[in-house]
Amino acid sequence: MRKPFVAGNWKMNTDSYASVELAERIASGSVETAGQSVTVAVCPPFVYLQAVARALSASSIAVGAQDIYFEPKGAFTGEISASMLKDIGCVYCLCGHSERRHVIGETDELINKKVAAAISGGLLPILCVGELLAEREASQTNQVVTRQVKKGLADLSAEKLSAVTIAYEPVWAIGTGLTATPQQAQEAHDFIRKLLGQMYGGQLAEEIRILYGGSVKPDNAADLMSQQDVDGLLVGGASLKADDFLAIIQAAV
Ligand code: 13P
Repeated sequence: MRKPFVAGNWKMNTDSYASVELAERIASGSVETAGQSVTVAVCPPFVYLQAVARALSASSIAVGAQDIYFEPKGAFTGEISASMLKDIGCVYCLCGHSERRHVIGETDELINKKVAAAISGGLLPILCVGELLAEREASQTNQVVTRQVKKGLADLSAEKLSAVTIAYEPVWAIGTGLTATPQQAQEAHDFIRKLLGQMYGGQLAEEIRILYGGSVKPDNAADLMSQQDVDGLLVGGASLKADDFLAIIQAAV
């Protein structure tokens, strides 16, 4: 059985006060569920990670980074390594979020190095994949997702795969208010699981959690979670409102 997993991606939002306050409100509202029946994580901006990790230290809510650099240390101005993130209490890290692919210009090759570096540095990567609207309309969803999964996980051993979570985030559903229907999400997740099965064998593929992301809100979370291969939710905008995020966690129980 795959344990449900709800993660909040705060993106480039909050400030030093608001980040800690949001974390505390989430922790106090989810005492009974977080960590027991649902894995819960929040991914604040780098500069607030340490304060948020401290605020959550007595809770079972984990902290994740929104990105990492693949080198362990050295002359890489402005970058942050997996070991630095682990050092301040990070457990997860997003790799290849659509905004990094399409706004910053990250390639599948770079994302693959980040996934590998995250695991070597003791973090659990959440590899984000998903097609653009034009790609969906051209019936290229499966092709795009196949490329992103295969290249993102290139050279990763079966043993290391168990550290990985996949997030399917169709780009057209991110921040747009458009959500994939539960059926569209299930189709994509089923496709990704079968792909993982071809790459790593069915048993391992059954164990990997595949999250859905893209305009997840309290009122659509339960329907999305009711799908067999939707194992959790990666929440953007709604994770910035404690009450909404808590309602989404409840929907995943
Ligand atoms: P929204 O929930 O704001 O659409 O963002 C989704 C997302 O990108 C999470 O990583």
